[in-house]
Amino acid sequence: MNRNDLCWCGSGLKYKKCHLAFDEKLDGMKFDFFKGQVRPPHKIIKNAADIEGIRKAGVINDAALDLAGSMVREGIDTESIDTAVRKFIEGNGAIPACLNYEGFPKSICISLNDVVCHGIPSKKTILKEGDILNIDITTILDGYYADASRMYTVGKVAPEAQRLVEIAKECMLVGIEAVHPWGYVGDIGAAVNAHAKANGCSVVTELGGHGVGKDFHEDPYIAHVGMPGTGMLIVPGMVFTVEPMINAGRFKVTVDKKDGWTVRTKDHSLSAQWEKTIYVTETGVEVLSS
Ligand code: MF3
Ligand code: CO
Ligand code: CO
Repeated sequence: MNRNDLCWCGSGLKYKKCHLAFDEKLDGMKFDFFKGQVRPPHKIIKNAADIEGIRKAGVINDAALDLAGSMVREGIDTESIDTAVRKFIEGNGAIPACLNYEGFPKSICISLNDVVCHGIPSKKTILKEGDILNIDITTILDGYYADASRMYTVGKVAPEAQRLVEIAKECMLVGIEAVHPWGYVGDIGAAVNAHAKANGCSVVTELGGHGVGKDFHEDPYIAHVGMPGTGMLIVPGMVFTVEPMINAGRFKVTVDKKDGWTVRTKDHSLSAQWEKTIYVTETGVEVLSS
C-alpha cells in the first residue's frame, strides 16, 4: 500500500493520514511464538463509521437490558421477558441477534442460578424469590452488533449468591481494566482469574468473550483465564466483549443434552456473568454496550 492510497480500514482517508504509523509500529514489533503472541489482522480493526454503527446498536441494546431488568420480579415467566424485549428491539428497527442464531429458539438468553449461560426463556421458567439470573442481549442495527449482559436478583437472596453476583461483576471490571492498547489479550484472563481465585470462585474456561462488529462472534477470542503478555496483541480499533462466567464451585460445565444450549455448572453450584462490549482507543477503552 502506497502513502497516497486510500487506507485499508475503509475510512476514506489517505493511508499516510490514517493507519501508516499504526502499521509501522506493528511491523516493528516482535511476536514471541512461545508466548503465543499474535499480530492482529487488519480485518478486525474498525474505522470510525464501524464504531458509530456499533455504538448505535449499543444504545438500543442497553435500553433493551433496562427493559428486561424492569420486568424481573417473583412470579414472572422468562418467556414474557423475551417477548417484550423482542418487540422493543424490533420496534426500534433492529434485530435480536440470538433469535435463530445457530438454531437458538428465542431472542435473548436468560440463565438462572446454576445455569452458566445460553438459558432459553420459557413459559415454564417462573422466577422465584432467591433466584439470581443473567440476562444476555445482543442487538443488530444496520448490520452492526452490540452484546452485553447483566445479573439480576429476585427478592431476598442468600448472602453467598449476592456475593457471587458482585464478585462476577468485579471480575468483568478488572478484566476491562487490564485492557490497554499495545497490551495483550492474555492480560485480561490473568486479571479475571486472579480476582476470582482470590475470592474462592472459579472461572469457566470453555466459553469466552469475542470480537464484535458486522458479525456476532469475531476474533479475537477472549479467554477469561491466561497469562499476562500472551496471545493476540491488543491495538486501537479493536472491539470485543469481556464476559467472564464465574462459578461459586468448580469451573467445569455441561451442556443440556435435550435442548443442546443450556450450559450448567457440572457441580450445580451457582454461576454469575456480566458482559460489556468495549472499544480499544489510542489511550484506553470506551464502553459501547453495557
Ligand atoms: N450473547 C451471547 C454471547 O455473549 C451469545 C448467545 S448465543 C445464543 O456471546 F445463541 F445462545 F443466543
Ligand atoms: Co458475548
Ligand atoms: Co452476550
